[in-house]
Amino acid sequence: MKRVIVGITGGIASYKAAEVVRGLCTKGIEVHVLMTEAATRFITPLTLQTLSGNPVVVDMFAEPRLWNVQHVAYAKKADLILVAPATASFIGRLTAGIADDMVSATILATTAPVVIAPAMNSQMYRHPAVQANLNRLREMGYQLIAPGVGELACGDRGEGRLAEVSQIIDQVLGHLLRKADLAGKNLLVTAGPTREYIDPVRFISNPASGKMGYALAAAARDRGAEVVLVSGPTAQLPPPGVKVSRVTTTAEMLAAVLEHFPAMDVVIKAAAVVDYRPQTRASQKLKKGSEQYVLTLERNPDILKILGERKGDKILVGFAAETQDLIENAREKIKAKNLDLIVANDVGQRGAGFGTDTNIAAIIHRDGTIKEIPLCSKQDLAHRILDEVVVLTRGRKS
Ligand code: PMT
Repeated sequence: MKRVIVGITGGIASYKAAEVVRGLCTKGIEVHVLMTEAATRFITPLTLQTLSGNPVVVDMFAEPRLWNVQHVAYAKKADLILVAPATASFIGRLTAGIADDMVSATILATTAPVVIAPAMNSQMYRHPAVQANLNRLREMGYQLIAPGVGELACGDRGEGRLAEVSQIIDQVLGHLLRKADLAGKNLLVTAGPTREYIDPVRFISNPASGKMGYALAAAARDRGAEVVLVSGPTAQLPPPGVKVSRVTTTAEMLAAVLEHFPAMDVVIKAAAVVDYRPQTRASQKLKKGSEQYVLTLERNPDILKILGERKGDKILVGFAAETQDLIENAREKIKAKNLDLIVANDVGQRGAGFGTDTNIAAIIHRDGTIKEIPLCSKQDLAHRILDEVVVLTRGRKS
């Protein structure tokens, strides 16, 4: 039986945690509830104890006075920790690593996956401090369930309501069920942009942030794969438990990928690779001169094409960033680069592509089958891509 720790923090949506707890119990999951003091002002521990069938812990210092052991015990016995709802203040404390209540202390002490469902007033949700904290939590490998849009308890309309209970339960179940389906597989992901320097301080690049590739690396790690992440320059934090190889230029990315390629079962190329580099790189910063400056570029190697030529039994997944004829162009890339799958992003759409936390994509198989993935977090898309990869691995030698 899977064991989920549900952390409840104090906001008006706390009462919905009762439905979440009940829903998880009816799916056959053992649920233990931890609450912050503030949460008890909105819903009683007795309600949660009755629904979960287990004692509820609120006070780290209460009897049996084993608080320092107790949070570690919960941290160890969890298959997953869910925080629903997560308030702005809780999110701030967790981001800062402050462990002054049972919920945050348990999360800091766990190695289990953590799923966080924020809920708050929409202005609070949009506040730059809250958004920065949510981004940090994402980078640390926490799964976030985006809040819904609609009528809020305070009377405002907008983003910030706790996600639907059914959506929270689905996400938790999805996480628990898919946990080890890439165990024993070696998987390489590329992420971020590459850079080609014109002189020591100027370069050609693109706005890739690395979020898509890092989400894939973290998701593959969570599903049991041994992950190598070949990353161009990004501000993302490396997901713990993933081997990171940092590169700058396309030639360096090619070298790093080829070094690891023989040992890999799966390669996913989410990086936005610069296709051309300056023919010469000035050793000193170029001075302003005439009105026009002509820069001669030469082709960079196509890393994915090179991998496609020597792919053997490996699974090769490409991305396609397109602004027109999305499906047609992506299909051509599958053939030209000898891929098993391609993830086509229409990067012209709002919420998709470079730098965003979300994406919109079509996952296209070699045989032409297409799965359209509507707007979702890059973490969710990562899992949808890996779901397809897992199906493909079942047909290959181990
Ligand atoms: O990093 P984020 O901000 O999260 O943004 C994510 C993303 C938009 C970068 C990502 O979702 C994406 O679409 N990545 C691929 C971008 C791209 O370079 O597309 P392309 O159509 O130019 O290339 C097709 C494929 O060939 C890609 O898998 C690319 O990694 C690979 N390629 C391209 C050129 C080259 N010289 N070598 C390559 O291996």
